[in-house]
Amino acid sequence: MAAKGKSLQQARRRAEELREQIAYHDRRYHRDDDPEIPDAEYDALRRELEALEDEYPELNQPDSPTRQVGARPDSAFAEVRHEVPMLSLGNAFDEQEMAEFDRRVRERLGVDEAVDYHAEPKLDGLAVSLLYVNGRLERAATRGDGQTGEDVTHTVKTLPGIPHKLKGKEIPERLEARGEIFMTHEGFQQLNERAREAGEKTFVNPRNAAAGAVRQLDPEVTRKRPLEIHCYGLGTLQGGSAPETQSALVDALKDWGLPVSPHGRVVKGIEGCREYHEELLGRRESLGYDIDGIVFKVNRRDWQQSLGQVSRAPRWAIAWKFPAQEKTTVLRAVKFQVGRTGAVTPVARLEPVFVGGATVSNATLHNMDEVRRKDVRIGDTVIVRRAGDVIPEVVGVIREKRPKNAPEIEMPAKCPVCGSQVEREAGEVVARCSGGLACPAQRKEAIKHFASRRAMDIDGLGDKLVDQLVSGGLIETPADLFRLDHDTLAGLERMGGKSAENLLAALDRARYRSLDRLLFALGIREVGEATAASLAREFGSLEALGEADEEALQKVEDVGPVVAAHIHRFFQQPINLQVIAELEKAGVKPEPPARPQGGKLTGKRFVLTGSLSGMTRSEAKQKIEAAGGKVTGSVSNKTDYLVAGDEPGSKKDRAESLGVTILDEGGLERLLQDG
Ligand code: IVH
Repeated sequence: MAAKGKSLQQARRRAEELREQIAYHDRRYHRDDDPEIPDAEYDALRRELEALEDEYPELNQPDSPTRQVGARPDSAFAEVRHEVPMLSLGNAFDEQEMAEFDRRVRERLGVDEAVDYHAEPKLDGLAVSLLYVNGRLERAATRGDGQTGEDVTHTVKTLPGIPHKLKGKEIPERLEARGEIFMTHEGFQQLNERAREAGEKTFVNPRNAAAGAVRQLDPEVTRKRPLEIHCYGLGTLQGGSAPETQSALVDALKDWGLPVSPHGRVVKGIEGCREYHEELLGRRESLGYDIDGIVFKVNRRDWQQSLGQVSRAPRWAIAWKFPAQEKTTVLRAVKFQVGRTGAVTPVARLEPVFVGGATVSNATLHNMDEVRRKDVRIGDTVIVRRAGDVIPEVVGVIREKRPKNAPEIEMPAKCPVCGSQVEREAGEVVARCSGGLACPAQRKEAIKHFASRRAMDIDGLGDKLVDQLVSGGLIETPADLFRLDHDTLAGLERMGGKSAENLLAALDRARYRSLDRLLFALGIREVGEATAASLAREFGSLEALGEADEEALQKVEDVGPVVAAHIHRFFQQPINLQVIAELEKAGVKPEPPARPQGGKLTGKRFVLTGSLSGMTRSEAKQKIEAAGGKVTGSVSNKTDYLVAGDEPGSKKDRAESLGVTILDEGGLERLLQDG
């Protein structure tokens, strides 16, 4: 640990430094909703201070931030004194620390057998307390410093999920429910999109957006933000009986009409904790909102009582954290990457950093509007986010750490690959290389896309091989792929006779892919898989599609004037017509689409929302489409069915208000079976 080997004086100085920094970051996080550093770095500061205080007990001070929670409330809000303090949680960062927690619990309780824990996702949002008096919502408060919070009743009352009146039986006279307010990824993206359109500042992450929305003076601002809540705890309870376990408490909260996590579960001992942690870590990305770990709580509340608490955290609960998805690092340089459609994207070259389970040295900056909005400069310390399979991105800058004279990032006037002019059309955020297929970068990307799994699915034709073939002048267009011969291929670096044979066989299979795949593979702008499928169904051949005018194109589902113009233009360009002719000559004969004849669900439109348990959403989509139905992204009055899984969110509300039939997973299965 960093504490080892310091003189007492050095340790004291370092502890003071750390306390100051922690207090500063506490204010940024809790009071201003504008944290400067990611949570993982804050945790590291706290841990270092804790270690110092452990090793040098003389440094221990009652007012040390290690003994406090959060920050003093902002004076803009009325103060609320918590009858029962709102605690924080101790952290475990690995299995060993988790096992130590479990050992301490059993030791203190004097039990040998495995302890039952209630496992819950650790939501990354804002903790609030909701006070119900005789079943009516009287007051909502933030955690503040744990003793005193801020009165946010006016904003919290706008959350659609929070009942103003509890339902059910045996409602206590005074009940304080505690939970976390958070924003889903979908809500966060929509909010940022709206902010971007209005030229306003975007939010760095859903947590800040949620916290900022609750700590508003004007409730109308809050109302427009898509906020949700899951309740997980109890403050004061009078005039009623308290449940005996955490799981019974969560059930009771649910029965009273308060939203709770659908993922809470009792697990047995450390083994059960391990399994649950692993399971949720695997599902982290598909939950639809940020969680930064799992909270394990001793399930028996009488045991919680006897375990008690130390300074700011209970001894009966712990947060087993997941790897951080945001870290800071230094942006060394920016390179400009040219994509398939010529889009020139600024990409940050970073000091390598371990984030979200991988080492990241490149992260997207999206486009120049984003670069300006976030005011990113070379040499800046930036916040990098890597969540699941999503491309790592720079989400923000730590202005305070900017070196003097840090140069601004400029879009080059010429394509860095082919030297053609870089152009930006009015109203577009994206700048493009005007070289078209004359630009080797665009050629490479077009061929990679053509060969990709969801397009022509050419096994063995990876990105590296395409780079090699294009750079070596062996191919220029997708059609050239089909003219490659065994000797040419076998002669390439890292290719043997066997791989060449396999690739030729894969190319041969690709000659007979379906028309919709071929259409998608051609890479017409704005034509994704769904549109390609609609076009294939409607026109039946490339020839017929090429002859269609914009009016005819717009009759196809999902095709508006912009997409129609892109398709029409594609079939006007000589280079594209030449590629199509050459593909045909090379024996590429797409299968016309099999029309779903009289499928049970022909003509029916579905929307899927929430997480399904028996199948993934894309499986559900495939099944519906195989039966002739159509799956769209948003609920409208044309929607026939909404299939709602766990935590369906706002789409369900919309479906209800439009009178759309709502099915659960079983309902969908029955519909697919019975027709
Ligand atoms: S229980 C007595 N349960 O994490 C323990 N907290 O780091 C008090 N949080 O202040 C908290 N999900 O804002 C608890 N399922 C959960 C939680 C949770 C998120 C937050 C909460 C708390 C912080 C502690």
